[in-house]
Amino acid sequence: MTLDRIGYHGFLGDVEHASEGILSLISKGKSFLVICHNDADGLSSGAIASVMLLREGAGFVTRSVKSIDEAVAFLKMLPGEVIPILTDIGGGYLGEVSEAVRDRPVFIFDHHEPMGSPGNNVLHVNPHLHGVNGAMEISGAGVVYLIARSLNEENVKLSPIAVVGALGDLQDRSDKRGLHGLNDLIVRDAVDKGLMNVEEDLLFYGRSHKPLHIALASTMNPFIVGISGNEAQAYSLLTGIGIKVKDDDRWRVLADLTEDEKKLLYNGIMKYLASLGLPPSMAKELVGKVYELTKEEPWTYLRDAREFASLLNACGKTGRDWIGIAIAMGCRGSLLEEAQMILEEYRRKMAEAMTYAMREENRQELKHIVVIDGGDVIDDLMISSVASMLSSIGIHGEERILLALAHSEDSIKVSARAPKSLIDRGINLGKLISKASALVGGRGGGHDVAAGASIPKTKKTLFLLEMDRIMEEEIGK
Ligand code: C5P
Ligand code: ZN
Repeated sequence: MTLDRIGYHGFLGDVEHASEGILSLISKGKSFLVICHNDADGLSSGAIASVMLLREGAGFVTRSVKSIDEAVAFLKMLPGEVIPILTDIGGGYLGEVSEAVRDRPVFIFDHHEPMGSPGNNVLHVNPHLHGVNGAMEISGAGVVYLIARSLNEENVKLSPIAVVGALGDLQDRSDKRGLHGLNDLIVRDAVDKGLMNVEEDLLFYGRSHKPLHIALASTMNPFIVGISGNEAQAYSLLTGIGIKVKDDDRWRVLADLTEDEKKLLYNGIMKYLASLGLPPSMAKELVGKVYELTKEEPWTYLRDAREFASLLNACGKTGRDWIGIAIAMGCRGSLLEEAQMILEEYRRKMAEAMTYAMREENRQELKHIVVIDGGDVIDDLMISSVASMLSSIGIHGEERILLALAHSEDSIKVSARAPKSLIDRGINLGKLISKASALVGGRGGGHDVAAGASIPKTKKTLFLLEMDRIMEEEIGK
């Protein structure tokens, strides 16, 4: 990749400016509050910011939040002269953030579609400000990584975490499920430092060490309905296809399979998915670039960057965000054991949620949207992952967007996903959902491909109709 695109120059100029700003505040003895989003990319971004500050000897506290409202509440309570740094959140709510901090300087390092007007006190680093697509080319963790690396070359060691963040945000959408654009630059940093290995293969987690059926059941990206989270089913699928799972007493791993066996496995899974009525578009999800963290022990859930992202996501979405941040910062030992147990439990819960979401009676179709209503059954903290997985198996088809809903205390959490075909036609979910949710007294935003909102419980039907109407208008354009 070349760096001669004008947008890259402008963006990297902002990166440098931000790193100088932070360094200058550190030298003045300032302390910081890092506020990050609680998904895999958010926790990765918070961890990178934390290590960056730790390395310079700065005082800081890191908090993760599940929504912008929570972030604003923290900002309003900030003591003394603490400087807030928002990572992977805030870019879509510039007005709210400016207002909450009043005259205090605030850093926003984000890749969400910018919305609202920032005050002069906001230093906002965001690829979108330079025409670089933040949904596809760089994650929140990637933005913070570039700032950290500009601040201190030692931070190049954090490059694998930025790759984990990008995969957590499903940015592996170029050819062969690869990362591209600025993400590719970060992958190169990691490979050059011997921290990462990139190979093409079937994308099952743990290709070099997990018994085949466990690798299949562990894989959550892509999510194979009925198989992910269910080892017994994975075992029957493999033996049904005719794949030998053992060599004498030793369990075989993916790396042991011949090319012919891999093809057999691939075709077998495709047949299985077709029997569930899932579209063939999922075929391309199963094979692609595997990003392996070479310094992680092979038997851990951190060796494959996609599984690392699943682990962080599980920590964030089950309220144990701090464990995820600590792991991404480099803590291991008993904390890693705990995080791995969290992921296992999360996988089981996800398998249940996906089974529920796949039932016909929980699905509703309007002209431009497919609605999956998780009601009180699917945890609102899990609905975002459910939406991503449903989208990865193509539940919305090529012409509609997906809206997945779950009840939260007094509101409904909405997670929206769009197929690539609609993005190519100019649909920007973040903007649409921001408009529709505001019309019903809610709040929303995000990227072209993935966005979310929170709406009042009583306004569900109205919101869905508004989304359908706004989609009709947009498609008409
Ligand atoms: O929650 P979910 O993962 O579905 O959100 C998709 C994207 O939309 C995320 O990047 C999130 O930050 C953004 N979002 C937002 N405002 C909301 C909810 C989600 O900007 N109220
Ligand atoms: Zn993100």
